[in-house]
Amino acid sequence: MALEKALVVENDPILRSALVDGLKAKKIEVSLAESGGKALEMLRQESFDLIFTETKTSDLSGIDLLQNAKQKNPEIIVILTTSYSTVEAAVEAMQLGAFNYLIKPFSQDTLRAMIEKAQEHASLLEENHFLRQEISTHHGIKEQLIAESDLMKKILSDVEKIAQSNASVFISGESGTGKEVIAHAIHFQSQRAHQPFIKVNCAAIPAPLLESEFFGHEKGAFTGAIHKRLGRFELADKGTLLLDEISEIPLELQPKLLRAVQEMEFERVGGIRPLCVDVRLISTSNRCMKDTIEQKLFREDLYYRLNVVPIHLPPLRERPEDILPLAQYFLERMCLENHKNRKQLSALARQKLLAYHWPGNIRELANVIERTIVMTPSDTIHPDHIGLDLSKPTTPIALETPYSVGITLAEMEKRLILQTLASHNNNRTRAAQTLGISIRTLRNKLNLYSR
Ligand SMILES: Nc1ncnc2c1ncn2[C@@H]1O[C@H](COP(=O)(O)OP(=O)(O)OP(=O)(O)O)[C@@H](O)[C@H]1O
Ligand SMILES: [Mg+2]
Repeated sequence: MALEKALVVENDPILRSALVDGLKAKKIEVSLAESGGKALEMLRQESFDLIFTETKTSDLSGIDLLQNAKQKNPEIIVILTTSYSTVEAAVEAMQLGAFNYLIKPFSQDTLRAMIEKAQEHASLLEENHFLRQEISTHHGIKEQLIAESDLMKKILSDVEKIAQSNASVFISGESGTGKEVIAHAIHFQSQRAHQPFIKVNCAAIPAPLLESEFFGHEKGAFTGAIHKRLGRFELADKGTLLLDEISEIPLELQPKLLRAVQEMEFERVGGIRPLCVDVRLISTSNRCMKDTIEQKLFREDLYYRLNVVPIHLPPLRERPEDILPLAQYFLERMCLENHKNRKQLSALARQKLLAYHWPGNIRELANVIERTIVMTPSDTIHPDHIGLDLSKPTTPIALETPYSVGITLAEMEKRLILQTLASHNNNRTRAAQTLGISIRTLRNKLNLYSR
């Protein structure tokens, strides 16, 4: 919202022409109203970005005018001109939403500075709108969440409950397991769904800039800070703030973050006024936080504040029931996006996907499917079309914890069969030998898994 049109209500002819000149010098179009009543009439017919009004016009108080104007346009900037005797009324008006006041008589310099402040405020509002709009168009479409495995179904039912509270959530899980997707799901199922969802990627922003990214800065706070800037905490006010890859924030910044998280209070860089916000926090990390705490890279007290409700997303290899539904979903979506005919996976292609250990999790699966679609002209996708290296050993994590208490015997058998097959580069004869079963039994079981 650039300031384009101003309305001036000022009886004193000298001050009136000073206001008109000052505004015109800033390329703002000016209209004059001789009374408060006339100003109200003009406000009904036209829209203005800025009003300069006396604290007491001939027929109306500046406060009445302010309230009427704000009702029509909550973002209108109202500046009162006041004498010393009416300063109290001007201060009261500020509490009711006036932007500022000028004490009469004022110099051209004071007026110019005030208009510049108003312009800066308007451009911040605009930046804010832009960010919110960008966020809501980017994430507004409800992402489809695929969850067939019991593990993921349980997580989604937890997400529904968690969304109803304001507690800080900590989502852990390997890269590509869907941490960001789950963070969106929490926000969009919460009461804050229509408020901003703001994200800071702590790993992508250089450490020296992170403080200003979180908390904003005042004009002139450091070299290069030519304008005041709102931080992500302020932008997320009333909504949700996603602190993505939180393990990466520098130790020096952690006390300030701790204060903001604990008290929801902070100052902009270079600012002295404490600001209060109402923000729901969701943090994510793909690193083991216990290790980062032991290595003294992350404060334990901060971690406990952020980790009120933990969610752990298991790697894809620990929820193989999700592999084919996800593959099918990506296949349909990406065929549409790439303007390709609908394609289907052959039974063997499905088995190849099931046998792989997916170290890059769902993101890797999405990439593999996209690459396959682009490279495969036929409507049926066979194993050779899918570029996966099944000879690679399974990752140490999968080897250490392939099964744990809580899974069924049938599930354990399935994982063992798929892993054995993967370790034999999908060679069924050798896998059957290792497992001590006939090839026919192996084939029947694999058919069952790929249904
Ligand atoms: N359950 C799901 N259903 C459908 N798509 C999913 C699901 N989970 C993740 N995805 C997709 O997988 C990709 C990776 O997900 P996301 O970015 O949320 O992972 P992440 O855990 O944040 O990864 P990283 O640690 O690398 O940032 C995205 O394209 C996302 O849309
Ligand atoms: Mg992520």
